[in-house]
Amino acid sequence: MAILETRDVIKQYKQYDRVVTAVNHVSFSVEEGEFTAIIGSSGSGKSTLIQLCAGLDEPQAGHIYLRGQEITQMSRDELCRFRGKMIGFVFQEHRLVPYLTALENILLPLSAADRDVEKYRERLRMLVDTLGLSDRLNHLPSELSGGQQQRVSIARALIHYPSLLFADEPTGNLDKESAMDVLNLLLRLKNELKQTLVVVTHDMDIAAKADKVFRMDNGDLRPVMK
Ligand SMILES: Nc1ncnc2c1ncn2[C@@H]1O[C@H](COP(=O)(O)OP(=O)(O)OP(=O)(O)O)[C@@H](O)[C@H]1O
Ligand SMILES: [Mg+2]
Repeated sequence: MAILETRDVIKQYKQYDRVVTAVNHVSFSVEEGEFTAIIGSSGSGKSTLIQLCAGLDEPQAGHIYLRGQEITQMSRDELCRFRGKMIGFVFQEHRLVPYLTALENILLPLSAADRDVEKYRERLRMLVDTLGLSDRLNHLPSELSGGQQQRVSIARALIHYPSLLFADEPTGNLDKESAMDVLNLLLRLKNELKQTLVVVTHDMDIAAKADKVFRMDNGDLRPVMK
């Protein structure tokens, strides 16, 4: 069974007197352990699509299944719990909580779900070391560079061992070297822990390493032959 499957998903936005179809009848699936990259020009609907897939927004039509369960039919509470267990999400614009330190931000998915932080000590150390954040943990987001904020948001998305990680331009704000560290972390998670990854990216180094690449064009999603 696919870990993620969408059927005929449509998302439209009203912009003043016109309607923009950000996601237009999109059907695709992602298998467990697979690394999927989504490329495409600015405004083509990539962020909208992965936010729908992660249950962060609702489509006007279509079906979205996570491990066979239709999230588009779930109640708000049910979806919230399901997401807390299954999904990690790296937002394009980080969305860190401004009054929490880097460490508190990273631990947020655990505190939000009442989980025992002690059990995640090793995971925390691995993420913090790999992402080069060990001397920044007590800083507020406003005291961090854009790239550091991005790395905190990646650690936050991964701390609770999500079954499925969505990352929206996870290396967009990083220099070449930090972007390579992030790519290597993603590949390590995939190879060692069979982490399923869906990554929106302009970074061709990332797309080149993906198992499957899709291109979004004006709301349409099509596979790219590698
Ligand atoms: N909340 C919103 N309200 C109205 N229109 C929106 C909203 N969010 C996105 N859109 C529109 O939907 C379309 C797709 O936007 P989206 O952010 O998904 O594109 P993207 O591919 O992620 O672009 P980028 O590469 O610049 O991040 C765009 O035309 C955008 O203007
Ligand atoms: Mg986007």
